[in-house]
Amino acid sequence: MKRPHVLASAAVSIDGFLDDDTPDRLVLSGPADLDRVDAERAGVDAILVGAGTVRADDPRLLVRSERRRADRVVRGLDPSPLRVVLSAGALDPHARVFTEGRELADTVVLGGTPDEVLARLADQGVVRLMVEGGAAVHHDFLAAAVVDEIQLAVAPRLVGAGPRFTGAPAHAHLVETRRVGADVLLRYRLGDADGRWLAEACTLAERCPPSPSAFSVGCVVVGADGTVLATGYSRRDHVLDHAEEAALRDVDPDDPRLAGATMYTSLEPCGQRASRPVPCTQHILDAGIGRVVMAWREPPVFVGAPSGVARLADAGVTVVERPEFTELARRPNRHR
Ligand SMILES: NC(=O)c1ccc[n+]([C@@H]2O[C@H](COP(=O)([O-])OP(=O)(O)OC[C@H]3O[C@@H](n4cnc5c(N)ncnc54)[C@H](OP(=O)(O)O)[C@@H]3O)[C@@H](O)[C@H]2O)c1
Ligand SMILES: [Zn+2]
Repeated sequence: MKRPHVLASAAVSIDGFLDDDTPDRLVLSGPADLDRVDAERAGVDAILVGAGTVRADDPRLLVRSERRRADRVVRGLDPSPLRVVLSAGALDPHARVFTEGRELADTVVLGGTPDEVLARLADQGVVRLMVEGGAAVHHDFLAAAVVDEIQLAVAPRLVGAGPRFTGAPAHAHLVETRRVGADVLLRYRLGDADGRWLAEACTLAERCPPSPSAFSVGCVVVGADGTVLATGYSRRDHVLDHAEEAALRDVDPDDPRLAGATMYTSLEPCGQRASRPVPCTQHILDAGIGRVVMAWREPPVFVGAPSGVARLADAGVTVVERPEFTELARRPNRHR
């Protein structure tokens, strides 16, 4: 089934609660984390909550930062992502998600199973979806095994009673911990090992400084034991940087872990380039990396030249293509 990439985001107390059991709205995370969540919102196509959250918290579900809204417009997007409310019942038409920010984003009400909802959103062009809760929606999406990434901000307080963050039993893989003000961000990925690192590479591609003509690509180099050796994205240090060369710049060329490493890249590594003398395939071969997993085959730029894939395969590198990630890899390149 075609479905968006799903990011489940929540703030929890140390004891795992999403809220307390009083009717007042409890804001668990601090200002720095609210700003981090705002940046995540700016990077998706839609934000989804359940009717319970609309009734309890009356959120607007908008990107707050004017600069982030302007950046989205430059990228050809609405100032704020589509707002999606799940409901099979009655919703107050005066809820802020319907009355506020209508010039910034549309709001739709949907129902059905998580699979049905996601299929509908994919049909509407949603590639990255942020699920912001509440308890029932997080549980249902996790239990349906449609969540690709979990972002939990753990706030420094105990709540004692209220709705909890729960799912069905599953293993998640920790990809990042970060202190954000007084809170701690825990970032997990679900799914197979290749899939979660490829999704991570596609997410890095979203960080590329914009360019009207060049590709936005993300890259993660992972050792055989699952350690991240380096990450990169297009134009990271210099306007001509390709993601793969930026990543490999950070690794000691004599690092013995490179021999067993896999490079995950959102786009096929270039086999030929005009901007610099050494194409990324050569950097990969020089580094001794034996396996490359990619999401999207490069549309031909130099007609008749051997493709990056062909060059790597000829040199004995194992190349794996995961076309189910192509939409995710294309997302930061929509203008092309
Ligand atoms: N800490 C955080 O990050 C965070 C974030 C969000 C919310 N929260 C908290 O979470 C609590 C709300 O959670 P909750 O579990 O009560 O509510 P919820 O998960 O927000 O919404 C549940 C409701 O959504 C509708 N719904 C869910 N799935 C549906 C589907 N597949 N199809 C159609 N309708 C569907 C149903 O509403 P109908 O009755 O309309 O059918 C259901 O009763 C609040 O206390 C809020 O403060 C915390
Ligand atoms: Zn390249």
